[in-house]
Amino acid sequence: MPILVDAHGYVLETARHAYAVGLTPEKELALRYWGRKLPQLADYPPLPHYEGWASFNGAEHLTPHEYPTYRGGSFNEPCLKTTFSDGVRDTWLTFQRAIIVDEEDALTLRFDDAHYPLRVYVVYRLLADLDLIERYVEVQNHGDAPITLERALSAMWHLPPAGRYELVHFTGRWFDEWQMQREPLPRGVTRLDSKRGTSSHHHHPAAFFAHPHTTETHGDCWFATLEHSGNWALLAEHTDFDTVRVSMGLNDWDFAHRLEAGASLVTPSVFLGWAEGGFQDASQRLHALARRNVPHPQQVRPVLYNSWEATAFDVDADSQMRYAEVAAELGVELFVMDDGWFKGRDHDAAGLGDWTPDPRKFPHGLTPLIDHVKALGMQFGLWIEPEMVNPDSDLYRAHPDWALHYPTRPRTTARNQLVLNLARPDVQDYLIETLTTLLSEHDIAFVKWDMNRSLTEVGWDGAEPKEVWWRYTEGVYRVWGTLRARFPAVLWQACSGGGGRADLGILRYADQVWLSDNTEPTRRLPMQHHYLMLYPPNTLEAWVTDMGWESMPLSFRFHVSMCGNLGVGANITRWGAAQKAAARDLIAQYKAIRHIVQQGRVYRHEPDPRGGYYALHFVSADQRECALFVFRAHSPEPAHPYYVTVRGLLPDARYTAHELGICRSGAAWASVPLRFDLQPFESRLYTLKAQYDGEYHDF
Ligand code: DGJ
Repeated sequence: MPILVDAHGYVLETARHAYAVGLTPEKELALRYWGRKLPQLADYPPLPHYEGWASFNGAEHLTPHEYPTYRGGSFNEPCLKTTFSDGVRDTWLTFQRAIIVDEEDALTLRFDDAHYPLRVYVVYRLLADLDLIERYVEVQNHGDAPITLERALSAMWHLPPAGRYELVHFTGRWFDEWQMQREPLPRGVTRLDSKRGTSSHHHHPAAFFAHPHTTETHGDCWFATLEHSGNWALLAEHTDFDTVRVSMGLNDWDFAHRLEAGASLVTPSVFLGWAEGGFQDASQRLHALARRNVPHPQQVRPVLYNSWEATAFDVDADSQMRYAEVAAELGVELFVMDDGWFKGRDHDAAGLGDWTPDPRKFPHGLTPLIDHVKALGMQFGLWIEPEMVNPDSDLYRAHPDWALHYPTRPRTTARNQLVLNLARPDVQDYLIETLTTLLSEHDIAFVKWDMNRSLTEVGWDGAEPKEVWWRYTEGVYRVWGTLRARFPAVLWQACSGGGGRADLGILRYADQVWLSDNTEPTRRLPMQHHYLMLYPPNTLEAWVTDMGWESMPLSFRFHVSMCGNLGVGANITRWGAAQKAAARDLIAQYKAIRHIVQQGRVYRHEPDPRGGYYALHFVSADQRECALFVFRAHSPEPAHPYYVTVRGLLPDARYTAHELGICRSGAAWASVPLRFDLQPFESRLYTLKAQYDGEYHDF
């Protein structure tokens, strides 16, 4: 049984790890132990007695609380901050009881405020096989008067004291997402967050805390990821007592949540882990977590074509049919029509909100195009941006009040568009019905859900105006979740002007995400490398476009995109016969290995920025097959070699790479390096196959 009770509290055991919590003399919850699973229950230490430090720092300031509130003499960052109706802002939660639900691997601890009718359930759920712990809280108001929450984070956790830590996280901006940062964790509070209404291009709601010597394959790291697609915050507090307290959850910036009498708030979940085998160990468990989330975890992702980069808004039935014909010739399986298809949409200043085909471009609706695409043997997909409205649209003319705004302020347009207030149930209902009609009337197998700006002027006339941020994200989830349930066969792509909303929360609704509008392959290599630290390859949509065509061979550009769900976004109607033939071969090659890539385990190799090298390999779920990619982006001479070993194979099985003429055991592939001397923009793809016909043998 993984949730154990001992004399000092509770011990949560996963496959290899344990997390023990206990109660302070004041009946508050604190961390006793987080580390390797110990042989006996008696091995887990009790909560130490925390002494104060002079009159300025009482024991409550030094105790590693699991869900600290703003109260008394605790001056660290709290998880919960409230204002009661009489103006008191001190919240003191004391333990009441524990509920263990074995079937759900869940431990729920109930805490009540000592005086006010505020109740908090602190929930731990074990993902035992993945050595991960899910954490969230439910905050309830059991009284008659409202209680305002000014901060309600999901969890706090503590790194082993006196360690030296580096914070590894992901930053960026539009067209430049997924840059990894690794920097020493300074004293004080380091805050990462989003204030944009989406998880954002700028910081990503996940982080690793690693020792300075931790590498891809060796060393400890602690990691966390938040299942939320709206405003979020991570606070990493390196205290003056050389401890590190980290908390994460809904951003408390411009946040307030009014808990009416009898109401409750359930926070988003944080997933926590400790990895001993470097970032790779953490990543593979995070991949398994994300694979649980996506709507169609096992479904093979089709090779798609999308003409956005070739045509922009210039789409109509005839020209899209021409693109579809070439796409089918290449072996594409899914033809996606992007922006520009709906009423009035000749540019980005009109049309958003009016989700009916433009009669000038599609005089007989979308069906003739869809039929043509299907007759060519492909499925059809469509782009939408449901959260947005152009002032020049029928929807806005009918419902100007539906856009987020303050009546006394100008409405900020970005890309000429405003944001619909998805916090409003009537807006949600309208979108559900409009998109239900669109999806019912057409044979649509794939939907790309885009979102091309941040939220501004977030007016809301509810009793607590600042709830709008949270309600907006819940509204997105409700609309998307309802459509997903109504159209269970549809595959969904999340896009937000590239990678503005590519997070664990959205992966409960979307099968795959768009990393960036930057499709230049050498920029994609680091982005993909970093994205794959958190999310599995079958969630990564990657197009071959015309970016880089002057300098990079087609094979290099394809190989980069073959490290995820391959798509094509180039102007294929301009491709000559030789280019089409090469693309057809590369697409066929991808189809032969995509089960390894999409469903396999990912092994990233340390890039060599000096030589411009990147490499990664994928090992199939049954460990019988492997696809190895090696790239050299441009880097000035002198070139130098790059060495790759192929880890993750069955040590005793023998694997053959025909292209290399090598057959050796999995142990040998992991130990004997391959040497690469590539030219700029050269790439290699090798497949390794285990020889197996009852028993492994040489041949
Ligand atoms: C931004 C997306 O990232 C692009 O792929 C494309 O869909 C455009 N929006 C369309 O407006």
